[in-house]
Amino acid sequence: MNALMRVENLKKNYGKVEAVRDISFSIPEGTCFGLLGPNGAGKTTTIEIMEGILSPTSGSVYFRDREIDNHFRQKVGIQFQSTALPEFIMVKETLDMFRAFYPNPRSLDEIIEICSPSVIIDRDKRKFSSG
Ligand SMILES: Nc1ncnc2c1ncn2[C@@H]1O[C@H](COP(=O)(O)OP(=O)(O)O)[C@@H](O)[C@H]1O
Ligand SMILES: [Mg+2]
Repeated sequence: MNALMRVENLKKNYGKVEAVRDISFSIPEGTCFGLLGPNGAGKTTTIEIMEGILSPTSGSVYFRDREIDNHFRQKVGIQFQSTALPEFIMVKETLDMFRAFYPNPRSLDEIIEICSPSVIIDRDKRKFSSG
């Protein structure tokens, strides 16, 4: 099976703190992958480097054999550990805003159709349950 993502010799230091000490692994396409470990093991740092929001001290991250770049950002969807969505806007306005980040987005109607959030589309997101 091809590697969807590959991490090679990743290191991250915060000053004198060695947050990630030379790790390498690959994630096969079609698998569900998780990182387990004690507090402070470097899981969040590793994931944030893989998301492209933190730079490594050294080492590389590949998505489909290509080092992560803007192409990667356009291909993936990331649900962050905590996400701050704008307050005071409707669900469909949130979808419309996120679709605007992509060069050739599907229409808002198509996205609504695919995600099937039609029941909640006109609701204020502050009134949702956190789940
Ligand atoms: N921004 C930062 N500045 C300095 N040290 C940090 C920072 N972020 C994380 N660390 C340190 O790096 C280590 C790994 O942290 P982290 O990746 O959050 O671990 P985990 O998610 O496995 O609990 C810890 O020692 C943590 O204190
Ligand atoms: Mg963490």
